[in-house]
Amino acid sequence: MCWLVLFTFTQTSLFYKTIIFLLTDNHGRKINYLRLAVTDRCNLRCFYCMPEEGLNWLSRSALMTYEEMLQSCALLVKMGIEKIRITGGEPFVRKDIMKLLTALSELPGLKELTLTTNGVLTAPHVAELKRIGVSSVNLSLDTLDANRFFAITKRDEFGNVMKTLDELLKHDIEVKVNAVVMDGKNTQDIIPLVELTKDLPVSVRFIEEMPFNGDGHVYAGLKWDYVRILDEIKAHYPAIKKLDDAQYSTSYNYQLPGHKGSVGIIAAYSRTFCGTCNRIRITPEGELKTCLYDNGVMNIKDLLRQGINEDDLKERLLNTFNNRVKDGWEAEHQRAESQGVHESMATIGG
Ligand code: 5AD
Ligand code: SF4
Repeated sequence: MCWLVLFTFTQTSLFYKTIIFLLTDNHGRKINYLRLAVTDRCNLRCFYCMPEEGLNWLSRSALMTYEEMLQSCALLVKMGIEKIRITGGEPFVRKDIMKLLTALSELPGLKELTLTTNGVLTAPHVAELKRIGVSSVNLSLDTLDANRFFAITKRDEFGNVMKTLDELLKHDIEVKVNAVVMDGKNTQDIIPLVELTKDLPVSVRFIEEMPFNGDGHVYAGLKWDYVRILDEIKAHYPAIKKLDDAQYSTSYNYQLPGHKGSVGIIAAYSRTFCGTCNRIRITPEGELKTCLYDNGVMNIKDLLRQGINEDDLKERLLNTFNNRVKDGWEAEHQRAESQGVHESMATIGG
């Protein structure tokens, strides 16, 4: 663990002490990205995420409050987090979400504020998102066919999601479309989704399906891994070109000649990106996860409710970063047999 003071400086009669910290873990990986899941609730029922009857929703008191989320984020930003992504469940089912986003956008030291949404309730908020500086939005959209959208999500909301896509593009907010590739459900959508990048400046990212489906059913194994997804795209578009992947990128990125947007593939199940993983997660219950596949390493909400002071909380956080698992396989292995990976993605935040 290295916690590095980079510089201090003075200015006229005022003394400013600006300290920039670099957080790293025990494997030398930089930690600068927090994904905060604000609720487990959702207005869709994507079958790979949760059962049709929904989850056993967390009670309001089990969720982090607005104040607890803001306090945790402010501390983590002071410690070196530079980017925050708000996720859920669906962030916009939380009534105080715009208030939280606005407060986060004002945190000194935070360089990037982004969010992941299913787009059902988002369109009316897009202008305000732009105003407070939300730079990029991930839109979950697995198909461009309204009937298949209904079959996958059990809700008739395709029109609202497309309206959100339209608003985001109109307001010049970067859009990444997240499409989970599901055998027998939407593989016929791979090519139409790639086509979307022809005229629209969006990045369409195909995600391997993970076992986070919330009903504990045994995962049958991955039929569409990143290699097969890429082969499918290449078979239709032999001219596809590899792009340079951004630092810490979890996707392999490609572009078709003449297309405005790009295509990405996320090996979420194959876990090819653990070696450069720069992210931590906080679940709606305040559980800190230093790996997507771990079971939670400490509960920040509980510590705050016990009245922990900032220095002690900082110490506890540093300690968990210093004991981080090497990769998702190790994290999964460390879980007890009975606690295999089967919780819903909505309780983790993706
Ligand atoms: N496998 C892969 N991706 C999933 N997501 C939700 N559940 C799963 C799963 N079981 C995706 C959603 C969303 C992102 C946060 O996680 O599509 O875009
Ligand atoms: Fe809701 Fe996202 Fe889960 Fe779909 S994947 S049910 S949109 S939380």
